[in-house]
Amino acid sequence: MATVTAPMDTRARQEWAEEVRRLARERDAVILAHNYQRPEIQDIADHTGDSLALSRLAAGVEASTIVFCGVHFMAETAKILSPEKTILLPEPEAGCSLADTITADDVRKWRAEHPEAVVVAYVNTTAAVKAETDICCTSSNAADVIRSVPEDREILFLPDQFLGAHVKRVTGRDNIHVWMGECHVHAGIDGHTLRRRVEAEPDAELYVHPECGCATSALYLAASGAVPQERVKVLSTGGMLSAAEKTTAGKVLIATETGMLHQLRAANPTTVFEPVNSRAECHYMKMITAEKLLAALRHGTTEITVPEDIAARARLSVERMVAIGSPSRGGE
Ligand code: 13P
Ligand code: SF4
Repeated sequence: MATVTAPMDTRARQEWAEEVRRLARERDAVILAHNYQRPEIQDIADHTGDSLALSRLAAGVEASTIVFCGVHFMAETAKILSPEKTILLPEPEAGCSLADTITADDVRKWRAEHPEAVVVAYVNTTAAVKAETDICCTSSNAADVIRSVPEDREILFLPDQFLGAHVKRVTGRDNIHVWMGECHVHAGIDGHTLRRRVEAEPDAELYVHPECGCATSALYLAASGAVPQERVKVLSTGGMLSAAEKTTAGKVLIATETGMLHQLRAANPTTVFEPVNSRAECHYMKMITAEKLLAALRHGTTEITVPEDIAARARLSVERMVAIGSPSRGGE
């Protein structure tokens, strides 16, 4: 369950915002927020974006401290890319069920079974797992990362089975072995739920995150003509935002974590954005509350560190990820 916090009235919210900005200046801190964060956190952040955009920002910002409003693996990735900076995660228990599906030991054993393979890891992994891999990717650049690997090299793709199936589909490669992990939030947006929603809204466009359990069903619905092909898009959260700005559709159904709706509705007030599954909420992302952000800035909590030997090995993999693919969405 998400942490329930009392809503702030306008005055209290303004005072909170002023105090956050004052403390951020005092600490020389930049606030980065993922698209799934609570609306008030997205609104106060210096930059909101998808995993790739936030990684690139973490590597490039000048501030000496980054307050990462996201989950633990994101803060670790920021530390790997910017070891000289102080990285604060306002709630250290903000984890990720997908990252928890694989350990560094699992990767070592898997690699030993396929010694010639290139190991590609989704960014939703711990630093210790990243250290065992060759190249990381996010949902924005996963296909480009796969295409950067010579055609004849076997690939071990981890840990998300639905993103793995998606990259196999779009690259047409069959020499990719996929780890059978999943995110409980996105796996819960299943084909059955999607079909019901699409049948009820036959004119709506459909944006589906590739981590979703329904990604294959969405493409099947498009291929079978149940939804016109051009109305179905499989996109990262940043890709959804770019598509939302351009669409002229009356309604778009969104298959991802519901925090995304805040950005989409702000980007295009004339289109109605509705979740495919309104219960698709990541309780880890929602652990970052207004109070915890304030406490993080006041007390410097909680600093995220990565042992230097692990960081050094993981850095190669993460830097390759940051270098591949077109610019992804991160905004003010
Ligand atoms: P993106 O923002 O990169 O699409 O990732 C989604 C996600 O699940 C992050 O945890
Ligand atoms: Fe992890 Fe899923 Fe939450 Fe993203 S939405 S942080 S993949 S548990």
